[in-house]
Amino acid sequence: MADATILDFEFEAHPNPVSDADRAGVLADPGFGKALTDHMVVIQYAEGHGWHNARVQPHAPLQINPACAVLHYAQEIFEGLKAYRLPDGGAALFRPEANAGRFNESAVRMAMPEMPEELFLESLGQMVRADRHWIPEGEGGSLYLRPFMFASETFLGVRPASEFTYLVIASPAGAYFKGAESVTLWASEHYTRAAPGGTGAAKCGGNYASSLVAQAEAIREGCHQVVFLDAVERRWVEELGGMNIMFVFEDGSIQTPPLGGTILPGITRDSLLTLAREAGLTVREERYGIDQWKADAESGRLREAFACGTAAVVTSIGKVRGRDFEFGIGNQGPGMVAQKLKSDLVAIQRGRAPDPHGWVKRLF
Ligand code: PLP
Ligand code: COI
Repeated sequence: MADATILDFEFEAHPNPVSDADRAGVLADPGFGKALTDHMVVIQYAEGHGWHNARVQPHAPLQINPACAVLHYAQEIFEGLKAYRLPDGGAALFRPEANAGRFNESAVRMAMPEMPEELFLESLGQMVRADRHWIPEGEGGSLYLRPFMFASETFLGVRPASEFTYLVIASPAGAYFKGAESVTLWASEHYTRAAPGGTGAAKCGGNYASSLVAQAEAIREGCHQVVFLDAVERRWVEELGGMNIMFVFEDGSIQTPPLGGTILPGITRDSLLTLAREAGLTVREERYGIDQWKADAESGRLREAFACGTAAVVTSIGKVRGRDFEFGIGNQGPGMVAQKLKSDLVAIQRGRAPDPHGWVKRLF
């Protein structure tokens, strides 16, 4: 069993799932990350035994020992991707192999075991098939999948654990920034997200834990999201708390901070760069300083900026605020380039446009 890449999944149906009427109520206005579906996937890992005991079971609390390693040393990684309803009633994932690849890169960085791509993909298929009735129908709706893995060994010494638990949970999702046509960012002066050699490129819970105080500051300042600057010079724009960032200039070119270990290699980022290049736009993956950003916004050389990620999709940035400055971008509303890229991306994700890259993986 230990070396099998795809395990047999046991299935235990929820004895008391959410009623059709209650589920319909949730799906009519799901918000983001509030409601959870009826089932979850669980797979165990133990050194010497490999991945084993794969199952789909009722979504329920876990029982863990207070000395469980993750509670002390935060050995935890996760992914986020969406299942979309296709025009014919089927469902598909968008580039799930990319999530599998990033999950394993995160695992390596956090001294955790890699999961065979086939098993990761199968776990997502099992999750969506079990809770297929939870995929919202309407435009903008999707089933957000959250695969994650944590150190589940019970011990207190500081070392990589030898036992891990992997789960997939699911949550029906609507817009992340509900009702916001564009968002305002808070440029954190004091806090940074990631340093060279650190864990910025890994999708580990710890990165988010350390970002929360800055995100809370952003909210207190009346902003939607924090934007982080680099940890060395405190100058270069890196990314937001939970999204990558892109800039659109008056000559129509697009620029985004380069990957280099301190930002998350977003799958939305990569997809948009590909679509923009194919549309003939000039694309640069180059550093962009906060002072230049401010000057370009004020001179009009910068026409648009937008956030991109699975949760946010593409969301225009209207304003940026910091301790002693504030500037607006373009007309401060949704940008034309952002909207075009978003509609092109979403049309592929939802099976309404050709998919020349083979990004869309039908589940049923
Ligand atoms: N950056 C951070 C910090 C994120 O949490 C996310 C979301 O997953 C992204 C960027 C965008 O990544 P993706 O497009 O793969 O969702
Ligand atoms: C995602 O987009 O999947 C994320 O993890 C970001 C978070 C804001 C939900």
